[in-house]
Amino acid sequence: MSNFISDLPKVELHLHIEGTLEPELVFALAKRNGITLNYLDESALQAAYQFDDLQSFLNVYYSGMQVLLTEQDFFDLTWAYLVRSHADKVRHVEIFFDPQAHLERGVPMAAVVEGIVRALEQARQQWGLTSRLIMSFLRHLSEDSAFETLGLAEPFRHHLSGVGLDSAEKGNPPTKFARVYAAALEQGYRLVAHAGEEGPASYIRDALDILGVERIDHGVAAITDPPLMARLAQERIPLTVCPLSNLKLKVINHMSELPIPQFLAAGVCVTINSDDPAYFGGYMNANYQALQEGLNLSDENILELALNSVEACWLSPEEKAHLA
Ligand code: ADE
Ligand code: ZN
Repeated sequence: MSNFISDLPKVELHLHIEGTLEPELVFALAKRNGITLNYLDESALQAAYQFDDLQSFLNVYYSGMQVLLTEQDFFDLTWAYLVRSHADKVRHVEIFFDPQAHLERGVPMAAVVEGIVRALEQARQQWGLTSRLIMSFLRHLSEDSAFETLGLAEPFRHHLSGVGLDSAEKGNPPTKFARVYAAALEQGYRLVAHAGEEGPASYIRDALDILGVERIDHGVAAITDPPLMARLAQERIPLTVCPLSNLKLKVINHMSELPIPQFLAAGVCVTINSDDPAYFGGYMNANYQALQEGLNLSDENILELALNSVEACWLSPEEKAHLA
């Protein structure tokens, strides 16, 4: 591991808390909650983390999170992630959670949000590690379900900075959630969406123009659309790219194919993030390291990527002072 990368203070902007569920914690929570798993042990579960595409990952991801039932489970999950991130010198994190995946299992919104928030608050007190929480809608579910979720979030509104959109991208375009995003904006939420991960560049345009998002999660498909690239650069619209995720889900075949140098050269505010680190083989340092090795990036390139994350995060200018 390069010292430059391990010593660099970092900001993480694209992280699904349910994607930090390590096999060890799956087994511990299954035991605590009296759940029988389909895997004999941790290494058998780990061995199942081989994916052909986004959907094959999502199947394992939604299955794994069935061990999360109580407020304490969500605290333990979030705390384990924060301990790892603190070790990677992460100073600020903006975390997604998928309430619909828990509500449909009978887990109330309160258990999810309060467990996550309690861990985030402890990290702030112990290490000064700051955070924002983003509620994400599952795009394979209906508009009605998203609206219902937005309503259930109202008592927790003060804990939530923004809304996002994740899950199966193909066949679930941003337009499906135009009215939900309009309602969320009305309620003062900030807006982001996954777009251009497996889907086309047109989904990135639609996320910007129809949903009105200020940041694009993934967005790597923009490289196929030069006018869109020019717009992203001109408006400094951040992309939260996730290198190990793109590799594991076969968005790219090799790290050398990830268009990070082209994004930087074009002046796009591209950032590096871990997405679902328990499933994709590493947290923030591992993502930076794999990227530097795969693309022969200089330390100056790495610094520029880290500074882009500071620019793109939702802290106030005063709050950003602690990141240095
Ligand atoms: N949910 C968790 N990780 C995701 C990803 N990379 N893309 C879409 N939905 C997700
Ligand atoms: Zn994601």
